[in-house]
Amino acid sequence: MNTRLFDAAVKASEKAHCPYSGFHVGAALLTADGEIFTGCNVENASYSMTVCAERIAIFKAVSEGKSDFSAIAVAGSADGDFSRNCTPCGACLQVMSEFCGSGFKIILAEGEYHLSDFLPVSFNKENLK
Ligand code: THU
Repeated sequence: MNTRLFDAAVKASEKAHCPYSGFHVGAALLTADGEIFTGCNVENASYSMTVCAERIAIFKAVSEGKSDFSAIAVAGSADGDFSRNCTPCGACLQVMSEFCGSGFKIILAEGEYHLSDFLPVSFNKENLK
């Protein structure tokens, strides 16, 4: 278990803007060259504009020219207890599938997973041909 990455996700959750759900989420994305990009959930009064912590971390990294990722840690809690899994939502899994290969790890409170554990099949560039 990559506790350093998970701890970075917990720390990132402190910045969450979540006045509507009260659910704080942090994500920490590890690039192949060892850099960490973090994100938190950013909610909006127009609820559907909310963006999850995972997508913010990934988009930050991609917009900084990174596209080779090793792992993402995700930590979520409503009460400061981060000991239970905060499983990425379907939209975030789809975004991960765009950038992350089969070795990519998803590190949650209760264990380590691969993208295929949650999203065995995704819409991808092959479907656009
Ligand atoms: N959320 C995330 O940021 N990531 C997840 O993996 C699950 C859900 C956010 C979205 C919303 O701000 C709040 O958690 C409750 O759904």
